[in-house]
Amino acid sequence: MPADSRRRPVRVGICGLGTVGSGTVNVMARNGEGIAARCGRPVEIVQIGARRDNPDCDTSALNVTREIFDVASNPEVDVLVELIGGTTVARELVLAAIANGKHVVTANKALIAEFGNELFAAAAERGVSIAYEASVAGGIPIIKSLREGLVSNRIQWLAGIINGTGNYILTEMRDQGRSFNEALAQAQALGYAEADPTFDVEGVDAAHKLVIMASLAFAMPLQFDKVYTEGISGIAIEDIRYADELGYRIKHLGIARATEHGIELRVHPTLIPRRRLIANVDGVMNAVLVQGDAVGPTMYYGPGAGAEATASAVIADIVDLARTLEAAPHQRVPSAGVAQGGCRTEARVPPMEEVVTSYYVRISAQDKPGVMSQVAQICSDQGISIEALIQHEPQPGETLVPVVILTSRAREVRLNQAVAKIQALDSVQGEVVRIRVETLG
Ligand code: HSE
Repeated sequence: MPADSRRRPVRVGICGLGTVGSGTVNVMARNGEGIAARCGRPVEIVQIGARRDNPDCDTSALNVTREIFDVASNPEVDVLVELIGGTTVARELVLAAIANGKHVVTANKALIAEFGNELFAAAAERGVSIAYEASVAGGIPIIKSLREGLVSNRIQWLAGIINGTGNYILTEMRDQGRSFNEALAQAQALGYAEADPTFDVEGVDAAHKLVIMASLAFAMPLQFDKVYTEGISGIAIEDIRYADELGYRIKHLGIARATEHGIELRVHPTLIPRRRLIANVDGVMNAVLVQGDAVGPTMYYGPGAGAEATASAVIADIVDLARTLEAAPHQRVPSAGVAQGGCRTEARVPPMEEVVTSYYVRISAQDKPGVMSQVAQICSDQGISIEALIQHEPQPGETLVPVVILTSRAREVRLNQAVAKIQALDSVQGEVVRIRVETLG
Protein backbone atom coordinates (compact mmCIF):
# COMPACT_ATOMS: atom_id res chain seq x y z
CA MET A 1 0.00 0.00 0.00
CA PRO A 2 1.79 3.20 -1.10
CA ALA A 3 1.70 6.41 0.91
CA ASP A 4 -1.05 8.81 -0.19
CA SER A 5 0.80 11.29 -2.43
CA ARG A 6 -1.87 13.94 -1.82
CA ARG A 7 -0.98 14.17 1.86
CA ARG A 8 2.10 16.20 2.61
CA PRO A 9 4.89 14.55 4.59
CA VAL A 10 4.80 14.74 8.36
CA ARG A 11 7.87 16.76 9.31
CA VAL A 12 9.87 15.60 12.26
CA GLY A 13 12.60 17.37 14.25
CA ILE A 14 14.77 15.17 16.46
CA CYS A 15 16.54 16.63 19.49
CA GLY A 16 19.34 14.45 20.82
CA LEU A 17 21.51 12.06 18.86
CA GLY A 18 22.56 9.61 21.55
CA THR A 19 21.69 5.93 21.59
CA VAL A 20 17.95 6.34 20.96
CA GLY A 21 18.38 9.29 18.57
CA SER A 22 20.78 7.39 16.34
CA GLY A 23 18.57 4.29 16.51
CA THR A 24 15.61 6.40 15.40
CA VAL A 25 17.52 7.89 12.44
CA ASN A 26 18.70 4.42 11.39
CA VAL A 27 15.30 2.70 11.62
CA MET A 28 13.64 5.59 9.76
CA ALA A 29 16.22 5.31 7.00
CA ARG A 30 15.94 1.53 6.77
CA ASN A 31 12.16 1.14 7.08
CA GLY A 32 11.01 4.55 5.82
CA GLU A 33 8.92 3.15 2.98
CA GLY A 34 6.94 0.76 5.16
CA ILE A 35 6.49 3.43 7.83
CA ALA A 36 5.17 5.89 5.22
CA ALA A 37 2.77 3.27 3.88
CA ARG A 38 1.39 2.69 7.34
CA CYS A 39 1.09 6.44 8.02
CA GLY A 40 -0.48 7.07 4.64
CA ARG A 41 2.14 9.80 4.15
CA PRO A 42 5.92 10.07 4.16
CA VAL A 43 7.75 10.86 7.38
CA GLU A 44 10.58 13.31 6.84
CA ILE A 45 13.30 14.25 9.31
CA VAL A 46 13.58 17.98 8.56
CA GLN A 47 16.02 18.88 11.33
CA ILE A 48 18.19 17.33 14.00
CA GLY A 49 19.36 19.26 17.04
CA ALA A 50 22.41 17.68 18.65
CA ARG A 51 25.48 18.97 20.41
CA ARG A 52 27.64 16.48 18.54
CA ASP A 53 27.43 13.95 15.73
CA ASN A 54 27.08 10.27 16.47
CA PRO A 55 29.23 7.89 14.40
CA ASP A 56 26.50 5.24 14.80
CA CYS A 57 24.27 7.00 12.28
CA ASP A 58 24.72 8.86 9.01
CA THR A 59 23.30 12.38 9.14
CA SER A 60 25.33 13.76 6.22
CA ALA A 61 22.20 14.35 4.13
CA LEU A 62 20.23 15.83 7.03
CA ASN A 63 19.93 19.34 8.41
CA VAL A 64 21.80 19.23 11.73
CA THR A 65 21.96 22.17 14.15
CA ARG A 66 23.89 22.48 17.41
CA GLU A 67 21.12 24.73 18.78
CA ILE A 68 18.42 22.35 19.90
CA PHE A 69 15.94 25.16 20.63
CA ASP A 70 16.05 26.00 16.91
CA VAL A 71 14.11 22.77 16.36
CA ALA A 72 11.39 23.92 18.76
CA SER A 73 10.96 27.16 16.83
CA ASN A 74 11.42 25.75 13.32
CA PRO A 75 8.12 26.43 11.48
CA GLU A 76 8.79 23.41 9.26
CA VAL A 77 8.60 20.99 12.21
CA ASP A 78 5.25 19.31 13.01
CA VAL A 79 6.53 16.84 15.61
CA LEU A 80 9.48 17.45 17.94
CA VAL A 81 11.11 14.26 19.21
CA GLU A 82 12.82 14.90 22.55
CA LEU A 83 15.67 12.45 23.12
CA ILE A 84 18.10 14.60 25.11
CA GLY A 85 17.20 13.15 28.53
CA GLY A 86 17.33 14.96 31.87
CA THR A 87 14.55 17.14 33.14
CA THR A 88 15.73 20.75 33.12
CA VAL A 89 16.55 21.58 29.50
CA ALA A 90 14.21 18.84 28.29
CA ARG A 91 11.27 20.42 30.12
CA GLU A 92 12.05 23.86 28.65
CA LEU A 93 12.45 22.35 25.19
CA VAL A 94 9.14 20.49 25.36
CA LEU A 95 7.31 23.56 26.69
CA ALA A 96 8.83 25.66 23.90
CA ALA A 97 7.73 23.14 21.28
CA ILE A 98 4.20 23.04 22.73
CA ALA A 99 4.03 26.84 22.82
CA ASN A 100 4.94 26.80 19.11
CA GLY A 101 2.10 24.37 18.37
CA LYS A 102 4.20 21.25 17.85
CA HIS A 103 3.34 17.74 18.90
CA VAL A 104 5.96 16.09 21.08
CA VAL A 105 7.31 12.55 21.21
CA THR A 106 9.61 11.72 24.10
CA ALA A 107 11.45 8.72 25.53
CA ASN A 108 12.10 10.61 28.76
CA LYS A 109 10.56 8.75 31.72
CA ALA A 110 11.90 11.17 34.34
CA LEU A 111 10.39 14.11 32.46
CA ILE A 112 6.95 12.50 32.16
CA ALA A 113 6.94 11.03 35.67
CA GLU A 114 7.99 14.27 37.35
CA PHE A 115 6.55 16.96 35.06
CA GLY A 116 3.91 15.09 33.03
CA ASN A 117 0.91 16.73 34.74
CA GLU A 118 2.21 20.19 33.85
CA LEU A 119 3.22 19.19 30.31
CA PHE A 120 -0.09 17.44 29.53
CA ALA A 121 -2.00 20.51 30.71
CA ALA A 122 0.14 22.81 28.55
CA ALA A 123 -0.30 20.52 25.53
CA ALA A 124 -4.07 20.28 26.00
CA GLU A 125 -4.29 24.06 26.27
CA ARG A 126 -2.40 24.44 22.97
CA GLY A 127 -4.31 21.60 21.26
CA VAL A 128 -1.27 19.37 20.69
CA SER A 129 -0.30 15.90 21.92
CA ILE A 130 2.57 14.43 23.93
CA ALA A 131 3.38 10.81 23.14
CA TYR A 132 5.72 8.78 25.38
CA GLU A 133 5.57 5.10 24.48
CA ALA A 134 9.37 4.84 24.60
CA SER A 135 9.52 6.12 28.16
CA VAL A 136 8.47 2.77 29.67
CA ALA A 137 9.94 -0.64 28.92
CA GLY A 138 11.71 0.38 25.70
CA GLY A 139 10.22 -1.46 22.75
CA ILE A 140 7.25 -3.04 24.55
CA PRO A 141 4.03 -1.23 23.55
CA ILE A 142 2.79 -1.11 27.14
CA ILE A 143 1.59 2.51 27.05
CA LYS A 144 -0.64 1.83 24.06
CA SER A 145 -1.86 -1.40 25.63
CA LEU A 146 -2.88 0.34 28.85
CA ARG A 147 -4.29 3.45 27.18
CA GLU A 148 -6.09 1.77 24.28
CA GLY A 149 -6.03 -2.03 24.19
CA LEU A 150 -7.22 -2.48 27.78
CA VAL A 151 -9.41 0.61 27.88
CA SER A 152 -12.61 -1.27 28.76
CA ASN A 153 -11.10 -2.80 31.87
CA ARG A 154 -11.03 -1.87 35.48
CA ILE A 155 -7.36 -2.58 36.12
CA GLN A 156 -6.88 -4.42 39.40
CA TRP A 157 -3.11 -4.44 39.52
CA LEU A 158 0.00 -4.37 37.40
CA ALA A 159 3.48 -5.60 38.20
CA GLY A 160 6.54 -5.22 36.05
CA ILE A 161 10.19 -5.99 35.68
CA ILE A 162 10.86 -2.56 34.26
CA ASN A 163 14.55 -2.05 34.78
CA GLY A 164 16.74 -4.19 32.55
CA THR A 165 19.95 -3.40 34.42
CA GLY A 166 18.51 -4.55 37.74
CA ASN A 167 17.12 -7.70 36.16
CA TYR A 168 20.45 -8.41 34.50
CA ILE A 169 22.27 -8.04 37.84
CA LEU A 170 19.88 -10.37 39.70
CA THR A 171 20.08 -12.93 36.89
CA GLU A 172 23.90 -12.87 36.85
CA MET A 173 24.01 -13.21 40.64
CA ARG A 174 21.74 -16.26 40.47
CA ASP A 175 23.14 -17.99 37.38
CA GLN A 176 26.84 -17.08 37.55
CA GLY A 177 27.26 -16.58 41.27
CA ARG A 178 28.61 -13.07 40.65
CA SER A 179 28.54 -10.49 43.42
CA PHE A 180 26.27 -7.48 43.08
CA ASN A 181 29.24 -5.20 42.26
CA GLU A 182 30.67 -7.53 39.63
CA ALA A 183 27.29 -7.87 37.92
CA LEU A 184 26.76 -4.09 37.98
CA ALA A 185 30.17 -3.45 36.42
CA GLN A 186 29.29 -5.88 33.67
CA ALA A 187 25.90 -4.23 33.04
CA GLN A 188 27.68 -0.88 32.72
CA ALA A 189 30.25 -2.32 30.32
CA LEU A 190 27.40 -3.67 28.17
CA GLY A 191 25.75 -0.23 28.09
CA TYR A 192 22.50 -1.21 29.86
CA ALA A 193 22.84 1.07 32.87
CA GLU A 194 21.74 4.71 33.10
CA ALA A 195 24.45 7.40 33.15
CA ASP A 196 23.94 7.36 36.91
CA PRO A 197 23.53 3.65 37.72
CA THR A 198 22.08 4.40 41.14
CA PHE A 199 18.89 5.24 39.22
CA ASP A 200 18.81 1.61 38.07
CA VAL A 201 19.89 -0.19 41.22
CA GLU A 202 18.10 2.00 43.76
CA GLY A 203 14.80 1.80 41.91
CA VAL A 204 14.39 5.42 40.73
CA ASP A 205 14.25 4.41 37.07
CA ALA A 206 11.62 1.76 37.84
CA ALA A 207 9.65 4.26 39.97
CA HIS A 208 9.54 6.69 37.03
CA LYS A 209 8.18 3.96 34.78
CA LEU A 210 5.73 2.62 37.37
CA VAL A 211 4.12 5.97 37.99
CA ILE A 212 3.60 6.49 34.25
CA MET A 213 1.91 3.09 33.85
CA ALA A 214 -0.19 3.62 36.98
CA SER A 215 -1.43 6.99 35.77
CA LEU A 216 -2.84 5.30 32.66
CA ALA A 217 -4.06 2.13 34.37
CA PHE A 218 -5.91 3.97 37.13
CA ALA A 219 -6.66 7.29 35.40
CA MET A 220 -4.83 9.13 38.14
CA PRO A 221 -2.48 12.11 38.00
CA LEU A 222 1.23 11.31 38.01
CA GLN A 223 2.38 11.15 41.64
CA PHE A 224 6.07 10.29 41.49
CA ASP A 225 6.77 11.57 44.99
CA LYS A 226 4.34 8.99 46.42
CA VAL A 227 6.10 5.89 45.08
CA TYR A 228 7.75 3.72 47.75
CA THR A 229 11.16 2.92 46.28
CA GLU A 230 13.63 0.28 47.42
CA GLY A 231 16.52 -0.95 45.27
CA ILE A 232 18.41 -4.20 44.90
CA SER A 233 21.78 -3.20 46.32
CA GLY A 234 20.99 -5.00 49.60
CA ILE A 235 20.21 -8.36 47.95
CA ALA A 236 22.75 -11.05 48.87
CA ILE A 237 23.49 -14.20 46.88
CA GLU A 238 22.38 -16.29 49.85
CA ASP A 239 18.90 -14.73 49.67
CA ILE A 240 18.69 -15.70 46.00
CA ARG A 241 19.72 -19.26 46.97
CA TYR A 242 17.25 -19.56 49.87
CA ALA A 243 14.46 -18.15 47.71
CA ASP A 244 15.26 -20.81 45.13
CA GLU A 245 15.15 -23.51 47.80
CA LEU A 246 11.67 -22.30 48.75
CA GLY A 247 10.51 -22.33 45.09
CA TYR A 248 10.84 -18.59 44.44
CA ARG A 249 12.87 -16.15 42.34
CA ILE A 250 13.84 -12.66 43.49
CA LYS A 251 12.87 -9.99 40.98
CA HIS A 252 12.87 -6.21 41.25
CA LEU A 253 9.24 -5.28 40.64
CA GLY A 254 7.26 -2.12 40.18
CA ILE A 255 3.76 -2.81 41.56
CA ALA A 256 0.60 -0.70 41.33
CA ARG A 257 -2.49 -2.15 42.95
CA ALA A 258 -6.00 -0.83 43.48
CA THR A 259 -7.21 -1.48 47.03
CA GLU A 260 -10.15 -0.13 49.00
CA HIS A 261 -7.67 2.28 50.64
CA GLY A 262 -6.22 3.70 47.43
CA ILE A 263 -3.66 2.84 44.78
CA GLU A 264 -0.47 1.25 46.09
CA LEU A 265 2.64 2.41 44.22
CA ARG A 266 5.75 0.50 45.18
CA VAL A 267 9.09 -0.61 43.78
CA HIS A 268 11.07 -3.24 45.68
CA PRO A 269 12.79 -6.61 45.42
CA THR A 270 10.11 -9.30 45.51
CA LEU A 271 9.99 -13.07 45.82
CA ILE A 272 7.76 -14.52 43.08
CA PRO A 273 6.82 -18.22 42.76
CA ARG A 274 9.24 -19.78 40.29
CA ARG A 275 6.38 -21.27 38.26
CA ARG A 276 5.10 -17.82 37.20
CA LEU A 277 6.01 -16.77 33.67
CA ILE A 278 7.31 -13.40 34.89
CA ALA A 279 9.66 -15.13 37.36
CA ASN A 280 11.45 -16.55 34.32
CA VAL A 281 12.05 -13.22 32.60
CA ASP A 282 15.82 -13.02 32.80
CA GLY A 283 18.75 -10.87 31.79
CA VAL A 284 18.08 -7.42 30.46
CA MET A 285 14.53 -8.23 29.31
CA ASN A 286 11.48 -6.45 30.72
CA ALA A 287 7.95 -7.76 31.30
CA VAL A 288 4.74 -6.26 32.63
CA LEU A 289 1.79 -8.23 33.98
CA VAL A 290 -1.55 -6.43 33.92
CA GLN A 291 -4.66 -7.84 35.56
CA GLY A 292 -7.92 -6.39 34.25
CA ASP A 293 -11.41 -7.31 35.45
CA ALA A 294 -12.61 -8.14 31.94
CA VAL A 295 -9.53 -9.51 30.24
CA GLY A 296 -7.97 -11.29 33.24
CA PRO A 297 -4.18 -11.61 33.37
CA THR A 298 -2.12 -10.33 30.43
CA MET A 299 1.64 -10.13 30.06
CA TYR A 300 3.85 -7.97 27.83
CA TYR A 301 7.45 -9.03 27.28
CA GLY A 302 10.38 -7.59 25.36
CA PRO A 303 13.56 -5.52 25.39
CA GLY A 304 13.38 -2.64 27.84
CA ALA A 305 16.30 -0.73 26.37
CA GLY A 306 18.55 -0.51 23.34
CA ALA A 307 18.88 1.84 20.40
CA GLU A 308 16.52 0.28 17.88
CA ALA A 309 14.14 -1.35 20.39
CA THR A 310 13.46 2.09 21.88
CA ALA A 311 13.41 3.69 18.41
CA SER A 312 10.65 1.22 17.54
CA ALA A 313 8.47 2.83 20.22
CA VAL A 314 9.49 6.39 19.27
CA ILE A 315 8.52 5.81 15.63
CA ALA A 316 5.23 4.14 16.61
CA ASP A 317 4.34 7.40 18.37
CA ILE A 318 5.34 9.45 15.31
CA VAL A 319 3.10 7.26 13.15
CA ASP A 320 0.17 7.70 15.55
CA LEU A 321 0.59 11.46 15.41
CA ALA A 322 1.03 11.46 11.64
CA ARG A 323 -2.24 9.58 11.20
CA THR A 324 -4.18 12.24 13.12
CA LEU A 325 -2.14 15.33 12.29
CA GLU A 326 -5.08 17.22 10.81
CA ALA A 327 -7.63 15.89 13.30
CA ALA A 328 -9.22 18.15 15.90
CA PRO A 329 -7.57 17.75 19.33
CA HIS A 330 -10.59 15.91 20.80
CA GLN A 331 -10.34 13.33 18.01
CA ARG A 332 -6.86 12.26 19.07
CA VAL A 333 -6.12 9.79 21.86
CA PRO A 334 -5.55 11.98 24.94
CA SER A 335 -1.94 12.07 26.18
CA ALA A 336 -2.97 11.23 29.75
CA GLY A 337 -5.34 8.47 28.63
CA VAL A 338 -8.39 10.45 29.74
CA ALA A 339 -9.46 13.85 28.49
CA GLN A 340 -7.77 16.75 30.25
CA GLY A 341 -9.68 17.44 33.45
CA GLY A 342 -10.98 13.87 33.50
CA CYS A 343 -8.22 12.64 35.83
CA ARG A 344 -9.20 11.84 39.36
CA THR A 345 -8.08 14.83 41.32
CA GLU A 346 -7.32 12.73 44.37
CA ALA A 347 -5.95 9.25 44.15
CA ARG A 348 -4.82 8.24 47.62
CA VAL A 349 -1.54 6.35 47.69
CA PRO A 350 -1.43 4.42 50.97
CA PRO A 351 1.84 4.48 52.93
CA MET A 352 3.86 1.25 52.97
CA GLU A 353 2.83 0.51 56.57
CA GLU A 354 -0.70 -0.18 55.27
CA VAL A 355 0.36 -2.59 52.54
CA VAL A 356 -0.56 -6.23 53.12
CA THR A 357 1.74 -8.91 51.70
CA SER A 358 3.79 -11.95 52.71
CA TYR A 359 7.45 -11.78 53.69
CA TYR A 360 10.70 -13.64 53.45
CA VAL A 361 12.72 -13.05 56.62
CA ARG A 362 16.32 -14.17 57.15
CA ILE A 363 17.77 -14.11 60.64
CA SER A 364 21.33 -14.89 61.76
CA ALA A 365 20.95 -16.53 65.14
CA GLN A 366 23.14 -18.33 67.64
CA ASP A 367 22.62 -22.06 67.50
CA LYS A 368 21.10 -22.59 70.94
CA PRO A 369 17.79 -23.89 72.31
CA GLY A 370 14.76 -21.59 72.35
CA VAL A 371 15.65 -19.16 69.52
CA MET A 372 13.13 -20.61 67.12
CA SER A 373 10.34 -20.58 69.70
CA GLN A 374 11.10 -16.92 70.54
CA VAL A 375 10.87 -15.98 66.87
CA ALA A 376 7.65 -17.97 66.48
CA GLN A 377 6.16 -16.29 69.57
CA ILE A 378 7.03 -12.79 68.32
CA CYS A 379 5.37 -13.53 64.97
CA SER A 380 2.34 -15.04 66.67
CA ASP A 381 1.98 -11.97 68.94
CA GLN A 382 1.70 -9.84 65.77
CA GLY A 383 -0.87 -12.19 64.21
CA ILE A 384 1.71 -13.42 61.69
CA SER A 385 1.83 -17.11 60.86
CA ILE A 386 4.99 -18.92 59.69
CA GLU A 387 4.21 -20.69 56.41
CA ALA A 388 7.63 -22.20 55.63
CA LEU A 389 10.98 -22.40 57.37
CA ILE A 390 14.56 -23.33 56.49
CA GLN A 391 17.33 -23.92 58.96
CA HIS A 392 20.40 -25.83 57.99
CA GLU A 393 22.77 -27.29 60.56
CA PRO A 394 25.77 -25.04 61.31
CA GLN A 395 28.95 -25.66 59.37
CA PRO A 396 31.95 -26.81 61.43
CA GLY A 397 33.35 -23.86 63.37
CA GLU A 398 30.25 -21.68 62.84
CA THR A 399 28.30 -20.43 65.81
CA LEU A 400 25.64 -18.53 63.84
CA VAL A 401 22.98 -20.24 61.76
CA PRO A 402 20.73 -18.59 59.22
CA VAL A 403 17.02 -19.07 59.91
CA VAL A 404 14.78 -18.28 56.96
CA ILE A 405 11.02 -17.99 57.25
CA LEU A 406 8.16 -17.26 54.90
CA THR A 407 5.25 -15.56 56.62
CA SER A 408 1.53 -15.41 56.03
CA ARG A 409 0.12 -12.19 54.61
CA ALA A 410 0.38 -9.41 57.13
CA ARG A 411 0.10 -5.65 57.31
CA GLU A 412 3.58 -4.17 56.91
CA VAL A 413 3.37 -2.26 60.17
CA ARG A 414 2.92 -5.61 61.99
CA LEU A 415 5.85 -7.18 60.22
CA ASN A 416 8.02 -4.16 61.06
CA GLN A 417 7.16 -4.57 64.72
CA ALA A 418 7.98 -8.28 64.61
CA VAL A 419 11.29 -7.64 62.84
CA ALA A 420 12.28 -4.99 65.41
CA LYS A 421 11.59 -7.45 68.25
CA ILE A 422 13.47 -10.28 66.54
CA GLN A 423 16.37 -7.93 65.89
CA ALA A 424 16.50 -7.06 69.58
CA LEU A 425 16.87 -10.70 70.73
CA ASP A 426 20.26 -11.39 72.35
CA SER A 427 20.70 -14.47 70.23
CA VAL A 428 20.19 -12.61 66.93
CA GLN A 429 23.20 -10.98 65.27
CA GLY A 430 23.60 -8.90 62.14
CA GLU A 431 20.71 -7.27 60.36
CA VAL A 432 17.44 -9.17 59.93
CA VAL A 433 16.77 -9.29 56.17
CA ARG A 434 13.20 -8.78 55.00
CA ILE A 435 11.98 -9.17 51.39
CA ARG A 436 8.35 -8.95 50.32
CA VAL A 437 6.63 -11.88 48.61
CA GLU A 438 3.91 -11.64 45.94
CA THR A 439 2.11 -14.59 44.38
CA LEU A 440 0.89 -12.54 41.36
CA GLY A 441 -1.89 -15.06 40.82
N1 HSE B 1 18.56 1.87 32.29
C1 HSE B 1 17.28 1.39 31.84
C2 HSE B 1 17.19 -0.08 32.18
C3 HSE B 1 17.11 1.53 30.35
O1 HSE B 1 18.19 -0.68 32.57
O2 HSE B 1 16.11 -0.63 32.05
C4 HSE B 1 16.06 2.40 29.83
O3 HSE B 1 15.07 2.80 30.64
